[in-house]
Amino acid sequence: MSELATIILAAGKGTRMKSELPKVLHQIGGKSMVEHIISTANNLNPTLNIAVIGYKGELVKSKLEGSNVNFAYQKEQLGTGHAVMQAEKLLSDFAGSVLVLCGDTPLLTADTLDRLFKQQQREDVEATVLTTEVNDPSGYGRIVRDQAGNVAKIVEDKDATAEQRKINEINTGTYCFDSKLLFSALDKIDNENAQGEYYLTDIIEVFREENNQVAAVVTNDESETLGVNTRRHLVQAGNTLQKRICNQHLENGVTIIDPENTFIDQEVEIGKDVVIYPFTNIEGETEIGNETIIGPQSRIIDSKLGSEVTVEHSVLRKVKIGDKTKVGPFAYLRPGTELGSEGKAGSFVEIKKSKIGDQSKVPHLSYIGDTRIGQEVNIGAGTITANYDGEEKHKTEIQDQVFIGSNSTLVAPIRVGQSAVTGAGSVVTKDVADNTLVLGVPAKEKDFDEKD
Ligand code: UD1
Ligand code: CA
Repeated sequence: MSELATIILAAGKGTRMKSELPKVLHQIGGKSMVEHIISTANNLNPTLNIAVIGYKGELVKSKLEGSNVNFAYQKEQLGTGHAVMQAEKLLSDFAGSVLVLCGDTPLLTADTLDRLFKQQQREDVEATVLTTEVNDPSGYGRIVRDQAGNVAKIVEDKDATAEQRKINEINTGTYCFDSKLLFSALDKIDNENAQGEYYLTDIIEVFREENNQVAAVVTNDESETLGVNTRRHLVQAGNTLQKRICNQHLENGVTIIDPENTFIDQEVEIGKDVVIYPFTNIEGETEIGNETIIGPQSRIIDSKLGSEVTVEHSVLRKVKIGDKTKVGPFAYLRPGTELGSEGKAGSFVEIKKSKIGDQSKVPHLSYIGDTRIGQEVNIGAGTITANYDGEEKHKTEIQDQVFIGSNSTLVAPIRVGQSAVTGAGSVVTKDVADNTLVLGVPAKEKDFDEKD
């Protein structure tokens, strides 16, 4: 096996997307298209990856930090051939095979790339093109074969004759080349074509003219090679990816009631016997423990849920939920919230940046912010932690076994000691000692057996 390097073309603007964002940064399944292709390429353990960047290159670069990739700049977007030329310097000492990939084909699988690389080695050819046969080849480069059935050249859609346009075998924009021959062939292409660009595809003809061999790998999975040029293609790619992701979870023992109305990002990890009801999005780096039930209509982002948790009609962003805790219906849990096990954040409850201990419950109509709550605490309906004085945020501390009466307002900064009780409707402005009852507006200390 020769060494492998990859070149990922990601310098184009993507005019047809009609977007301020470079095309390759548009996302499906929670990751940009270019990140998808790079992480797929990484499965082949290449010696190095080179992303060719240009349009809003700094932005693309910043999104790819940590992706194990080097960068080559293409100042002006003069075509895919010109883009590949920019990687030459970084490969001057490299003598192996180069996989050229497009940043806008996010669905390619590692298996297919591996097949392409292996076939190149096995047949000992200088170039291998990944092709596929499609019903509607419009927009793609067509594979023109000679009488012997070998790839003779690739003709771009805009340059094709009426006869060539009928060819259903298309160029997927994915190739394997001998590194040295790739760059020497690129020296010989020009930009005399319909788009005035240096086409990478023209090097196939150069290879043939110089008696170098060109092979093809034909995939039978058209959905895998989709090149995303428009928003419509992006939806198509997103749907294909969702199907793949849901199938994977189904195979792993997750029940997804309606996969067509369930959206799960690629990095999400889900345990066994989890049930996901429809109209649910599970996004980012979320982990879900066994036997948890989610949905319907929930959105969970970058969160970690334990086992046997239930989440119904709720939004959770950057939170941690312990085992057997119930969330919703209609809860909004904001970043920095951690709920212990066997707890509850019930209906119309908003919790922000608060840590709540095991078996503590916030069952209805409450706002809890910047608060620490101990274990076995009950927060009565309508309780508000008044954490904002108009200028600064303040903290609330509620210790174990506290009972907060309905409609209490806790004016932060404030501390409510262990096993303390607040009466219904209290406005608590001062710290409450352990084992103490306070009530009224503002709340005052009372004996437990004292009656008004
Ligand atoms: C390209 C192929 C076409 C193939 C199709 C597969 C060429 C000339 N055509 O066409 O045969 O069927 O992909 O999807 O190669 N890019 C740069 N710099 C540039 C131009 C493009 O980095 O100067 C990048 C783009 O960001 C994109 C990729 O190259 O990621 C492909 O460019 P695009 O303009 O989408 O090419 P297609 O017209 O789709
Ligand atoms: Ca394209």
